[in-house]
Amino acid sequence: MTDMFRLDGKTALVTGAGTGLGQHFAQVLAHAGARVVIAARRSEKLAKTESLITAAGGEVFAVALDVRSASNISAAFDAAESQFGPVDVLVNNAGFSGFSALLDSDEANWDAIFDTNVKAAWLVSTELIRRSRQHESSSVSIINIASILALGTKFGLGPYMASKAAVVQLTKAMALEWGDSGVRANAISPGYFPSEMTDGLFDTPGGRAMQERIPLRRTGELHELSGPLLLLASDASTYMNGSVVTVDGGHLCHTL
Ligand SMILES: NC(=O)c1ccc[n+]([C@@H]2O[C@H](COP(=O)([O-])OP(=O)(O)OC[C@H]3O[C@@H](n4cnc5c(N)ncnc54)[C@H](OP(=O)(O)O)[C@@H]3O)[C@@H](O)[C@H]2O)c1
Repeated sequence: MTDMFRLDGKTALVTGAGTGLGQHFAQVLAHAGARVVIAARRSEKLAKTESLITAAGGEVFAVALDVRSASNISAAFDAAESQFGPVDVLVNNAGFSGFSALLDSDEANWDAIFDTNVKAAWLVSTELIRRSRQHESSSVSIINIASILALGTKFGLGPYMASKAAVVQLTKAMALEWGDSGVRANAISPGYFPSEMTDGLFDTPGGRAMQERIPLRRTGELHELSGPLLLLASDASTYMNGSVVTVDGGHLCHTL
Protein backbone atom coordinates (compact mmCIF):
# COMPACT_ATOMS: atom_id res chain seq x y z
CA MET A 1 0.00 0.00 0.00
CA THR A 2 2.79 2.48 0.82
CA ASP A 3 4.09 2.14 -2.77
CA MET A 4 1.22 4.32 -3.98
CA PHE A 5 2.84 7.29 -2.20
CA ARG A 6 6.18 6.82 -4.01
CA LEU A 7 7.31 9.31 -6.66
CA ASP A 8 10.09 7.33 -8.34
CA GLY A 9 10.68 8.52 -11.91
CA LYS A 10 8.80 11.79 -11.34
CA THR A 11 10.19 15.31 -11.48
CA ALA A 12 8.89 17.80 -8.92
CA LEU A 13 9.32 21.58 -8.85
CA VAL A 14 8.94 23.45 -5.55
CA THR A 15 8.88 27.25 -5.52
CA GLY A 16 10.15 29.10 -2.45
CA ALA A 17 12.15 26.00 -1.51
CA GLY A 18 15.00 27.78 0.28
CA THR A 19 13.28 28.09 3.67
CA GLY A 20 10.34 26.98 5.78
CA LEU A 21 7.60 24.85 4.28
CA GLY A 22 9.15 24.82 0.81
CA GLN A 23 12.46 23.49 2.10
CA HIS A 24 10.58 20.76 3.93
CA PHE A 25 8.38 19.91 0.93
CA ALA A 26 11.45 19.55 -1.31
CA GLN A 27 13.06 17.12 1.15
CA VAL A 28 9.89 15.05 1.47
CA LEU A 29 9.42 14.74 -2.30
CA ALA A 30 13.08 13.75 -2.77
CA HIS A 31 12.80 11.17 0.01
CA ALA A 32 9.79 9.68 -1.82
CA GLY A 33 11.94 9.19 -4.94
CA ALA A 34 11.28 12.32 -7.01
CA ARG A 35 13.98 14.32 -8.76
CA VAL A 36 13.41 17.73 -7.21
CA VAL A 37 13.91 21.15 -8.74
CA ILE A 38 14.13 23.80 -6.03
CA ALA A 39 13.46 27.41 -7.02
CA ALA A 40 13.62 30.79 -5.27
CA ARG A 41 15.45 34.12 -5.42
CA ARG A 42 18.11 33.67 -2.70
CA SER A 43 20.78 31.25 -3.89
CA GLU A 44 22.33 30.83 -0.43
CA LYS A 45 19.03 29.55 0.95
CA LEU A 46 18.62 27.15 -1.98
CA ALA A 47 22.18 25.90 -1.38
CA LYS A 48 21.16 24.87 2.13
CA THR A 49 18.15 22.92 0.85
CA GLU A 50 20.31 21.37 -1.86
CA SER A 51 22.87 20.16 0.69
CA LEU A 52 20.18 18.67 2.94
CA ILE A 53 18.70 16.68 0.04
CA THR A 54 22.05 15.59 -1.34
CA ALA A 55 23.22 14.46 2.11
CA ALA A 56 20.10 12.29 2.37
CA GLY A 57 20.85 10.67 -1.01
CA GLY A 58 18.22 12.56 -3.02
CA GLU A 59 18.42 14.09 -6.50
CA VAL A 60 18.11 17.87 -6.54
CA PHE A 61 18.70 20.79 -8.92
CA ALA A 62 18.57 24.43 -7.81
CA VAL A 63 17.39 27.18 -10.11
CA ALA A 64 17.13 30.95 -9.52
CA LEU A 65 13.56 32.12 -9.89
CA ASP A 66 11.47 35.17 -9.15
CA VAL A 67 7.96 33.77 -9.49
CA ARG A 68 6.59 37.21 -10.42
CA SER A 69 8.50 37.21 -13.71
CA ALA A 70 7.13 35.27 -16.70
CA SER A 71 10.51 35.29 -18.47
CA ASN A 72 12.21 34.01 -15.31
CA ILE A 73 9.66 31.20 -15.09
CA SER A 74 10.21 30.12 -18.69
CA ALA A 75 13.99 30.09 -18.18
CA ALA A 76 13.61 28.09 -14.95
CA PHE A 77 11.50 25.45 -16.74
CA ASP A 78 14.08 25.27 -19.56
CA ALA A 79 16.83 24.64 -17.01
CA ALA A 80 14.74 22.15 -15.03
CA GLU A 81 13.72 20.17 -18.09
CA SER A 82 17.25 19.98 -19.44
CA GLN A 83 18.38 18.59 -16.08
CA PHE A 84 15.53 16.28 -15.08
CA GLY A 85 12.97 16.19 -17.95
CA PRO A 86 9.34 17.38 -17.85
CA VAL A 87 7.87 18.44 -14.51
CA ASP A 88 5.16 16.10 -13.17
CA VAL A 89 4.54 17.63 -9.74
CA LEU A 90 4.43 21.38 -9.05
CA VAL A 91 4.21 22.87 -5.57
CA ASN A 92 3.28 26.57 -5.75
CA ASN A 93 4.66 27.38 -2.31
CA ALA A 94 6.42 30.76 -2.69
CA GLY A 95 4.54 33.29 -0.62
CA PHE A 96 4.65 36.68 1.02
CA SER A 97 2.62 38.25 3.82
CA GLY A 98 2.94 41.92 4.72
CA PHE A 99 1.29 42.98 7.97
CA SER A 100 -0.83 46.14 7.85
CA ALA A 101 -4.37 47.28 8.45
CA LEU A 102 -6.35 47.97 5.27
CA LEU A 103 -6.19 51.75 5.66
CA ASP A 104 -2.41 51.60 6.16
CA SER A 105 -1.79 49.22 3.28
CA ASP A 106 -0.39 50.81 0.14
CA GLU A 107 -0.51 49.65 -3.47
CA ALA A 108 3.05 48.34 -3.38
CA ASN A 109 2.22 46.07 -0.44
CA TRP A 110 -1.02 44.90 -2.05
CA ASP A 111 0.71 44.18 -5.38
CA ALA A 112 3.63 42.35 -3.74
CA ILE A 113 1.22 40.05 -1.92
CA PHE A 114 -1.07 39.36 -4.86
CA ASP A 115 1.75 39.08 -7.42
CA THR A 116 3.62 36.54 -5.28
CA ASN A 117 0.74 34.53 -3.86
CA VAL A 118 -1.83 34.54 -6.67
CA LYS A 119 -0.54 35.77 -10.02
CA ALA A 120 2.66 33.74 -9.71
CA ALA A 121 0.74 30.51 -9.07
CA TRP A 122 -1.19 31.19 -12.29
CA LEU A 123 1.97 32.09 -14.23
CA VAL A 124 3.99 29.06 -13.10
CA SER A 125 1.09 26.64 -13.54
CA THR A 126 0.16 27.81 -17.04
CA GLU A 127 3.80 27.50 -18.09
CA LEU A 128 3.75 23.92 -16.81
CA ILE A 129 0.48 23.07 -18.56
CA ARG A 130 1.61 24.46 -21.94
CA ARG A 131 4.79 22.41 -21.70
CA SER A 132 3.03 19.25 -20.47
CA ARG A 133 0.72 19.41 -23.52
CA GLN A 134 3.78 19.55 -25.79
CA HIS A 135 5.32 16.60 -23.95
CA GLU A 136 1.95 14.79 -23.93
CA SER A 137 2.40 14.16 -20.21
CA SER A 138 -0.46 12.03 -18.94
CA SER A 139 -0.44 12.91 -15.26
CA VAL A 140 0.44 16.22 -13.66
CA SER A 141 -0.25 17.17 -10.06
CA ILE A 142 -0.34 20.81 -8.99
CA ILE A 143 -0.38 21.60 -5.27
CA ASN A 144 -1.07 25.20 -4.30
CA ILE A 145 -0.20 26.30 -0.78
CA ALA A 146 -3.11 28.33 0.54
CA SER A 147 -3.68 29.05 4.27
CA ILE A 148 -6.36 28.78 6.91
CA LEU A 149 -6.48 32.56 6.50
CA ALA A 150 -8.29 31.87 3.19
CA LEU A 151 -11.29 31.18 5.45
CA GLY A 152 -10.41 32.43 8.93
CA THR A 153 -9.45 35.99 9.82
CA LYS A 154 -6.66 37.89 11.54
CA PHE A 155 -6.47 41.64 12.08
CA GLY A 156 -3.83 43.31 9.89
CA LEU A 157 -3.63 40.55 7.33
CA GLY A 158 -6.47 41.62 5.00
CA PRO A 159 -4.50 41.56 1.73
CA TYR A 160 -2.89 38.22 2.65
CA MET A 161 -6.29 36.74 3.61
CA ALA A 162 -7.78 37.92 0.31
CA SER A 163 -4.84 36.52 -1.64
CA LYS A 164 -5.11 33.08 -0.03
CA ALA A 165 -8.87 32.98 -0.64
CA ALA A 166 -7.99 33.70 -4.28
CA VAL A 167 -5.51 30.79 -4.26
CA VAL A 168 -8.33 28.45 -3.22
CA GLN A 169 -10.58 29.60 -6.07
CA LEU A 170 -7.64 29.55 -8.51
CA THR A 171 -7.06 25.92 -7.52
CA LYS A 172 -10.68 25.10 -8.35
CA ALA A 173 -10.42 26.88 -11.71
CA MET A 174 -7.33 24.81 -12.54
CA ALA A 175 -9.15 21.61 -11.54
CA LEU A 176 -12.11 22.59 -13.70
CA GLU A 177 -10.22 23.64 -16.81
CA TRP A 178 -7.36 21.14 -16.89
CA GLY A 179 -8.89 17.95 -15.53
CA ASP A 180 -9.72 16.70 -19.02
CA SER A 181 -6.01 16.45 -19.82
CA GLY A 182 -5.18 14.41 -16.72
CA VAL A 183 -4.04 17.35 -14.62
CA ARG A 184 -5.05 17.41 -10.97
CA ALA A 185 -4.91 20.62 -8.96
CA ASN A 186 -5.41 20.65 -5.20
CA ALA A 187 -4.50 22.94 -2.32
CA ILE A 188 -3.12 22.54 1.16
CA SER A 189 -4.32 25.07 3.74
CA PRO A 190 -1.80 25.04 6.58
CA GLY A 191 -2.48 26.44 10.01
CA TYR A 192 0.54 27.86 11.86
CA PHE A 193 3.96 26.25 11.24
CA PRO A 194 7.54 27.41 11.97
CA SER A 195 9.18 29.31 9.09
CA GLU A 196 10.76 32.70 8.28
CA MET A 197 7.21 34.05 7.84
CA THR A 198 6.14 33.09 11.37
CA ASP A 199 9.54 33.67 13.03
CA GLY A 200 9.10 35.12 16.53
CA LEU A 201 5.29 34.97 16.34
CA PHE A 202 4.56 31.95 18.51
CA ASP A 203 6.46 33.11 21.58
CA THR A 204 4.66 36.42 22.07
CA PRO A 205 1.64 36.88 24.38
CA GLY A 206 -0.56 37.07 21.26
CA GLY A 207 1.09 33.94 19.85
CA ARG A 208 0.53 32.00 23.05
CA ALA A 209 -3.12 33.10 23.19
CA MET A 210 -3.50 32.03 19.56
CA GLN A 211 -2.20 28.55 20.41
CA GLU A 212 -4.80 28.25 23.19
CA ARG A 213 -7.51 28.66 20.55
CA ILE A 214 -6.19 25.70 18.53
CA PRO A 215 -8.05 22.54 19.61
CA LEU A 216 -4.73 20.61 19.70
CA ARG A 217 -3.29 23.51 21.82
CA ARG A 218 -0.11 23.84 19.73
CA THR A 219 1.21 24.99 16.38
CA GLY A 220 2.09 22.45 13.71
CA GLU A 221 5.44 20.76 13.11
CA LEU A 222 6.73 20.63 9.55
CA HIS A 223 6.70 16.81 9.43
CA GLU A 224 2.93 16.99 9.97
CA LEU A 225 2.58 18.40 6.44
CA SER A 226 4.48 15.48 4.86
CA GLY A 227 1.55 13.05 4.62
CA PRO A 228 -0.89 15.53 3.03
CA LEU A 229 1.80 16.63 0.56
CA LEU A 230 2.64 13.08 -0.50
CA LEU A 231 -1.04 12.20 -0.75
CA LEU A 232 -1.68 15.02 -3.23
CA ALA A 233 1.59 14.59 -5.14
CA SER A 234 1.28 10.85 -5.69
CA ASP A 235 -1.01 8.25 -7.23
CA ALA A 236 -2.60 7.84 -3.80
CA SER A 237 -4.94 10.71 -4.78
CA THR A 238 -5.73 10.05 -8.45
CA TYR A 239 -9.41 11.01 -7.93
CA MET A 240 -8.73 14.14 -5.87
CA ASN A 241 -9.06 17.29 -7.96
CA GLY A 242 -10.01 20.74 -6.69
CA SER A 243 -9.74 19.62 -3.05
CA VAL A 244 -8.52 21.87 -0.26
CA VAL A 245 -6.82 19.90 2.50
CA THR A 246 -6.68 21.78 5.80
CA VAL A 247 -3.78 20.92 8.14
CA ASP A 248 -4.28 23.08 11.23
CA GLY A 249 -4.81 21.03 14.39
CA GLY A 250 -8.47 22.01 14.22
CA HIS A 251 -7.76 25.77 14.33
CA LEU A 252 -10.62 26.57 11.94
CA CYS A 253 -13.01 24.69 14.25
CA HIS A 254 -12.59 27.08 17.18
CA THR A 255 -15.80 28.22 18.79
CA LEU A 256 -17.37 31.59 18.03
N1 LIG B 1 4.30 29.16 8.02
C1 LIG B 1 2.98 29.12 8.17
O1 LIG B 1 2.46 29.03 9.29
C2 LIG B 1 2.09 29.18 6.96
C3 LIG B 1 0.72 29.01 7.16
C4 LIG B 1 -0.13 29.03 6.07
C5 LIG B 1 0.39 29.19 4.79
N2 LIG B 1 1.73 29.35 4.63
C6 LIG B 1 2.21 29.50 3.27
O2 LIG B 1 3.29 28.61 3.07
C7 LIG B 1 4.12 29.10 2.03
C8 LIG B 1 5.57 29.07 2.50
O3 LIG B 1 5.73 30.04 3.52
P1 LIG B 1 6.67 29.84 4.77
O4 LIG B 1 5.82 29.93 5.98
O5 LIG B 1 7.53 28.66 4.60
O6 LIG B 1 7.49 31.21 4.73
P2 LIG B 1 8.98 31.54 4.29
O7 LIG B 1 9.95 30.76 5.09
O8 LIG B 1 9.05 33.02 4.31
O9 LIG B 1 9.07 30.99 2.80
C9 LIG B 1 8.56 31.67 1.70
C10 LIG B 1 9.52 31.46 0.55
O10 LIG B 1 8.94 32.05 -0.61
C11 LIG B 1 10.01 32.52 -1.38
N3 LIG B 1 9.56 33.63 -2.20
C12 LIG B 1 8.97 34.78 -1.81
N4 LIG B 1 8.79 35.59 -2.84
C13 LIG B 1 9.29 34.95 -3.93
C14 LIG B 1 9.44 35.28 -5.28
N5 LIG B 1 9.02 36.46 -5.75
N6 LIG B 1 10.01 34.38 -6.13
C15 LIG B 1 10.42 33.18 -5.66
N7 LIG B 1 10.32 32.81 -4.38
C16 LIG B 1 9.78 33.69 -3.52
C17 LIG B 1 11.10 32.98 -0.42
O11 LIG B 1 12.38 32.72 -0.99
P3 LIG B 1 13.29 33.90 -1.60
O12 LIG B 1 13.11 35.10 -0.75
O13 LIG B 1 14.68 33.32 -1.56
O14 LIG B 1 12.81 34.07 -3.01
C18 LIG B 1 10.87 32.09 0.80
O15 LIG B 1 11.85 31.10 0.92
C19 LIG B 1 3.61 30.50 1.70
O16 LIG B 1 2.79 30.44 0.55
C20 LIG B 1 2.78 30.86 2.93
O17 LIG B 1 1.80 31.81 2.63
C21 LIG B 1 2.59 29.35 5.68
